[in-house]
Amino acid sequence: MTLKGLLLAGGTGSRLRPLTYTGAKQLIPVANRPILFYAVDAMVEAGIEDIGVITGETGEEIRAKLGSGNAFGCRFTYIPQPAPLGLAHAVKIAGTYLGQDPFLMFLGDNLLRSGLKPLVDRFASGQYAASILLTEVDDPRQFGVAVVEGGRVVRLVEKPADPPSHWALVGAYCFGPEIHEVVATLQPSGRGEYEITDAIQTLIDRERVVDATFVQGWWKDTGRPQDVIEANRLMLEDVPMSMQGTVDQASEIVGRVQLGRGSRVEHSTIRGPVVIGENVHILHSYIGPYTAIGDGVIIEETELENSVILPESRISKVPERIDQSLIGRGAVVQGGHKRPRAVRLVLGDQSRVDL
Ligand code: DAU
Repeated sequence: MTLKGLLLAGGTGSRLRPLTYTGAKQLIPVANRPILFYAVDAMVEAGIEDIGVITGETGEEIRAKLGSGNAFGCRFTYIPQPAPLGLAHAVKIAGTYLGQDPFLMFLGDNLLRSGLKPLVDRFASGQYAASILLTEVDDPRQFGVAVVEGGRVVRLVEKPADPPSHWALVGAYCFGPEIHEVVATLQPSGRGEYEITDAIQTLIDRERVVDATFVQGWWKDTGRPQDVIEANRLMLEDVPMSMQGTVDQASEIVGRVQLGRGSRVEHSTIRGPVVIGENVHILHSYIGPYTAIGDGVIIEETELENSVILPESRISKVPERIDQSLIGRGAVVQGGHKRPRAVRLVLGDQSRVDL
């Protein structure tokens, strides 16, 4: 069975502001690579060659980054969604593209260590109206939640105040063609969205078999800044060592470190796992584990760890160690001011600083 793919790269990214004022949330990098690229890789690895990409207001940027699909070994068809009206709405507007083919829908801000092949293989091996992926979470209130009995899903609720189980829906779903009939009859939920969980519940109400498999390895929905930092940490666990830049005699590199072309490390210590992009300059600094630094960044006289630094930022003479931080493109963080010492801030809308 060959499945088509439906990759969701629309939405608003409101929980990742201010970074998402200037760019798509699915293009925020972890381990210096856009989150969306890992999603495409996972779909291609699961044997999917034709992928419909749902885009929203950041559509042009998504298109420019993904291209035709050649670079990933697949073909993209872009499907603009006029407004982010919900995951089931995305299925609805992709109806013509998908036709009667079975398909895998994947949320472009989700990362899965074990990939999508187990889900696709499972769906292809049975007669299911849908196959979903579940994982156990401590607080299921921010997810779709499933009740499973004897390997079958018997009930689904979206973001319940009082969750009926700890099984959260991971953003990967396989569907047969009946889902199109169902989404056509759906009404918007209390939050005004056409919910895919409601659509799957309708399949269950029609006594169709909805199958559930459980995630092996980690899963991350990168909807919030702390999730991006955590996803970055998880991805860096697998990064191989590679040294294309230059490191002077006064510097020390410990553990797995990637240093991109044209980058220079001087009088500094870098303790991996760390990835550093191209044309980065690190001077009199300490870069600690689980940090990713984008292209063209300058860091001087600063200590930094567990952080994601987007390209072209400049961080200089910060008196305290920067930890668990997400710093946007072209940002300037500057310390070293003379006394009286004060904090001077020029922050974008919806920024957050913890001092
Ligand atoms: O991450 C798993 C969760 O994803 C599931 O547990 C929930 O059941 C499911 O509803 C979904 O919840 P989120 O609130 O996390 O969905 P979010 O609005 O963040 O959208 C997920 C992705 O889909 C994101 O990359 C944006 C894209 N999207 C979203 C909507 C609502 C679209 O392309 N179009 C849309 O209309």
